[in-house]
Parts: sequence; structure tokens; C-alpha cells
Amino acid sequence: QDPRIEGIASSIRVVPNFPKPGIMFQDITTLLLDPKAFKNTVDLFVERYTGKDITVVAGIEARGFIFGPPIALAIGAKFIPLRKPRKLPGEVISEEYVLEYGTDCLQMHIGAVQPGDRALVVDDLIATGGTLCAAIKLLERAGAEVVECACVIELPELKGRERLNGKPLYILVESR
Ligand code: PRP
Ligand code: MG
Repeated sequence: QDPRIEGIASSIRVVPNFPKPGIMFQDITTLLLDPKAFKNTVDLFVERYTGKDITVVAGIEARGFIFGPPIALAIGAKFIPLRKPRKLPGEVISEEYVLEYGTDCLQMHIGAVQPGDRALVVDDLIATGGTLCAAIKLLERAGAEVVECACVIELPELKGRERLNGKPLYILVESR
């Protein structure tokens, strides 16, 4: 395992019973307070995706907006925000999904991706996988090829990976 992973893992604060009893919240704001851990996180993704012909990095609101843009800039890809409902002014396509707590919806501007685009989906964390699954559907409906999903943290006990229909998922840290 890359020696940088340990520092990244230890920079993530785990907050029990937030936002609801029984949830072990993985707080990446403490990772962001550690410039070395934040840089190493971005660097590990950039090293993996440089030279892979990724044309689009799609970041999922809100925490995918933190990690996606620096990756997009470094690899020379466009960045697309996948947003919560009623935030985008243009014409959108929507996908609803079930969250670990509640239901939600992601929207993407029509025309943000072209058929033939090669997409990387970025978020901070995969829990049940519902969010990433909705993101993949949006991009594929718009004609993009989703090459891989990348998250900082996976909660393997929730088996979210199984909801991605075989789509590759790259993660840095496993948590429980
Ligand atoms: C969290 C997290 C992921 C998603 C993972 O986002 O940032 O996006 O849940 O859950 P899932 O794999 O079960 O779908 P959340 O919607 O809580 O909000 P935020 O990113 O806007 O803070
Ligand atoms: Mg999120």
C-alpha cells in the first residue's frame, strides 16, 4: 500500500451518531485541515488518472466538489458539477436515488457532456452506493462512457460497490 494512505486515513475524523443515532460519520473536514493529507489525496488520484484519456471529471454535490476540481485541472479534463435539485439554471436531466438517510436527486446540465466523453466520477465517500449509481446513470444517459468512480472512503459493510453494476471503483481508505 502507498505510504501516503496511512496519513490520509488518520486525518479523517469519525463522529459517532451524526447526523443520526447509529451512523459513524466520516468527517473529511479534518483531512482538509491537513495540507499534506489533502495534497496526497489529490496526488494519488491524479497519478492514477493521468494519461488515461479522461475528458470529464464529474463531481457530486457537495463533497465531490472539493476533490473533483483539483483532479480535473491537473489531468486537463473539464469539470461537471452534478447538483442537488433546482440549483442549475439550464435544461437538466435528473436521477433520483435512495440515501443512507432519506432520498435525494442529482441533476446535470444537458450538453455538459458529449457522446464519446470519457468520465471519471468523484465523491468523498461511498456508503450504500445510491449516489454514485445515480451519477453513473446521468452520465451514461448523456452518452458519456464512465471509466471509473473514485472516492476517498468506502464503507465496505454497506456493499455499495455491488450497486455499481461492475463499474470500477477506486478508493483510498476503507472504514467501518
Ligand atoms: C454523502 C457523501 C456521498 C453520499 C454517499 O453525501 O458525501 O455523496 O452521502 O452515500 P451513498 O453511497 O449511500 O449514496 P450527502 O448526500 O450526505 O451530502 P453532501 O455531500 O452534500 O454533504
Ligand atoms: Mg455527498
